[in-house]
Amino acid sequence: MREFTAARLRDVEESATITVSDKAKALKAQGKDVLDLSGGDPHFPTPRHIVQEATEAMERGDTHYPPSRGIPRLLNAVQRKFAQDNGLEYALDELIVTPGGKLAIYATLMATVEPGDEVLLLSPAWVSYEPGIRIASGVPVYVPLEPEEYRITPEALRSVDAPRAKVLIFNSPNNPTGRVATADEIRAVAEFAQERDLLVIADELYEKLLYDGREHQSIAAQPGMRDRTITVNGMSKAYAMTGWRLGYAGGPRAVIAQAFKIHQQSVTSAATFTQMAAACALEGPQDAVAEMLQGYDSNRRLVADALNAIPGVHCPMPEGAFYAFPSIEGKESIPFARELLDDALVAVTPGVAFGPTGEGHIRISFATEASILERAFERMSKALGA
Ligand SMILES: Cc1ncc(COP(=O)(O)O)c(C=O)c1O
Repeated sequence: MREFTAARLRDVEESATITVSDKAKALKAQGKDVLDLSGGDPHFPTPRHIVQEATEAMERGDTHYPPSRGIPRLLNAVQRKFAQDNGLEYALDELIVTPGGKLAIYATLMATVEPGDEVLLLSPAWVSYEPGIRIASGVPVYVPLEPEEYRITPEALRSVDAPRAKVLIFNSPNNPTGRVATADEIRAVAEFAQERDLLVIADELYEKLLYDGREHQSIAAQPGMRDRTITVNGMSKAYAMTGWRLGYAGGPRAVIAQAFKIHQQSVTSAATFTQMAAACALEGPQDAVAEMLQGYDSNRRLVADALNAIPGVHCPMPEGAFYAFPSIEGKESIPFARELLDDALVAVTPGVAFGPTGEGHIRISFATEASILERAFERMSKALGA
């Protein structure tokens, strides 16, 4: 029999983060008391007023196909959000609402990458970019950023030999490092993108999760960047709406029009009542976002203190998102994570999953109860002989 599966998918590996959390789930199913710090899902419930909006929409009968690009109410809310929060003016046909920010990234890659085109990733980078690039028949090329600071410099950007580079994915606040790019770093990426004539996919999913008074800056708002940037955002992280699957993107019409075809011809649209809820979230009071941020902020201090007290572990203070990315004294991260799960029943993500300069680190999600974090670090300290 012939090989039925497509070659472009055979090299794509299952997400390393999902593999760890699957093993953690399997252990849990066996009745083991696993403390799972490997996921990227807020522990807070979706705020009540948002849930209520969706329930009312369903009761009203808003359960049919919506317009593919998004319902007008949500597109208008997204348009206002981009203008107010990011200084970005988009016409309605420069926007698209997708089931999750992930699909917006994937659709943009499918819309822009030709077979063999290179897509630059600043390492460490979120685990789902590389498979997305491969599925789009592109070639992922990591730009290694130096641990521990992972600073983006013009030298680091220029150090990579990628003559076919067409796209660069830029993610700040960053998963997994918890770093927030400075104005200088954003400028360096913007200048590099113009110098090399690149399209930038700006992944701003963690925009609202910033600590110590930091302010988010969109790279698309830099001089010369609007027409070469697709800005991706979504409801998952800021509003604790991961399961609702709702994201959106804004960018130049020509690229959005092609990404829209991928979206329309694959998933048709995001769900109708989820879009109502998302509009309500963007239009309504933002107190719940601020409250959740406070919770993450206190968790991040707990995590950094506890990790830095463990010999051989060093954890810079996360600046944004809800991840800590401590170094583990040059140890290999996969056996380290595996042993931690086997010996201490604590699930973390091996840093190597995020690219070459992620090795020697683990990612810890602190979007969980403080009591779980405390128990996890107690176990970790014991297992690591502290
Ligand atoms: C950096 C980053 N981008 C995008 C996403 C996708 O988010 P969603 O598809 O839930 O909107 C995630 C989710 O973990 C993420 O961490």
